Amino acid sequence: MKIKAAVLRQYGVPMEIEELELAGPRQHEVQVKMLACGFCHSDLSVWQGDIPQDVPMVPGHEACAVVEKVGPGVTGLKPGDRVIGCWMVPCGHCYQCRRGHPNLCDTSKVFFQNGNLLDGTSRLTDKNGKRVGLGSFIAGFATHSVMPDVGAIRVPDHIKLPPEQLCQLGCSVATGWGSIVNVAQAREGNSVGVWGCGGIGLNAIRFASLRNCRPVVAVDLEESKRSIAMEFGATHFIDSSKTDPIPVIKELTGGEGLEFAIEATGDPGAQVQAWYAIRANGMVVAIGIAPLNSVTNIPMFYAPLHAKTIRGTLYGETHPTEDLPSLMEVMNTGLLKTDKLVTKLIRLEDLGKVQEAIAARKVIGRWVIRYD
Ligand SMILES: NC(=O)c1ccc[n+]([C@@H]2O[C@H](COP(=O)([O-])OP(=O)(O)OC[C@H]3O[C@@H](n4cnc5c(N)ncnc54)[C@H](O)[C@@H]3O)[C@@H](O)[C@H]2O)c1
Ligand SMILES: [Zn+2]
Ligand SMILES: [Zn+2]
Repeated sequence: MKIKAAVLRQYGVPMEIEELELAGPRQHEVQVKMLACGFCHSDLSVWQGDIPQDVPMVPGHEACAVVEKVGPGVTGLKPGDRVIGCWMVPCGHCYQCRRGHPNLCDTSKVFFQNGNLLDGTSRLTDKNGKRVGLGSFIAGFATHSVMPDVGAIRVPDHIKLPPEQLCQLGCSVATGWGSIVNVAQAREGNSVGVWGCGGIGLNAIRFASLRNCRPVVAVDLEESKRSIAMEFGATHFIDSSKTDPIPVIKELTGGEGLEFAIEATGDPGAQVQAWYAIRANGMVVAIGIAPLNSVTNIPMFYAPLHAKTIRGTLYGETHPTEDLPSLMEVMNTGLLKTDKLVTKLIRLEDLGKVQEAIAARKVIGRWVIRYD
């Protein structure tokens, strides 16, 4: 069928909306109509080539969609079901999957990189009949797509949240949650700092707050992020464009520093601050993705002396197919404030505007494409 999609053909060059041909679902796949897709900072990094993925491809990995057609062998989904896309789809057989790290699935990683589904092919072709990659198993910047059934998490009927909130489960909510709960395993009374109050950082702040961590210090270069950070549960906000966060954090933590610093910017400067902000035995949880080939200058002298840890994490150690359904129930209570997270609805044609705004650090919360 003919669909519309934003196609990334060359890094840094504006994406055009093109008409593409979408082939139908194969074994264990579902064809979906997109309802909403958030714009994550990783989408900007992919577009810039800072997180290189093979082009041409259709990006977009934070999506909620409705099933239109199911392929052979699909039993758990039917037309009309709403689903949320996972951007890592565990194969269940590789080294990482077998050892309990499905978020790092070796098989998925290759297809994630080259825009293929689990059988190693895409479903998209352009008007010249040339293959176009289907980004992150989702291609959320397309009106329609095909997803592996195992990576399409069903939204039960009792969940009435609108798609622009539901789609947040696919990346920002899961990653923010996992950074606090799975990686840091922060508990009540732990001191937590979060660098970057965007979609990911706000969810980390939210979960740190729900876990009764104290203090929860939000750090951002933009004063404009203060009020949403406080709304999500930060106890303090530091505008790091004006104030060095390290002495303030030291003072808030009895001179010692934080137990956990969640780095959710990917900026080497913020990574260095997070390193200096943790106490002995503290941990930097590195979620932010620095541009490929960038180098961060961290004095390792203190790594052994203060037993400091830097722990990178992809998807916050989320087990996509196991964790998203239960996390969706929490989201449905309103506790996660996803109604406040989504601050603007845009159209597919507005992708350029959100790219510009997120690069300029002007996006508060998340802007989400709504397909109607
Ligand atoms: N590890 C993962 O699995 C994973 C998943 C999703 C996103 N990410 C990455 O997480 C990061 C955050 O994504 P997002 O969508 O929340 O981004 P965002 O653009 O919505 O938010 C980033 C925030 O960081 C702030 N910021 C930028 N530089 C800063 C600095 N030096 N110090 C303090 N604040 C600074 C910005 O003002 C903004 O508020 C990105 O690097 C993204 O690629 C990683
Ligand atoms: Zn993302
Ligand atoms: Zn695997």
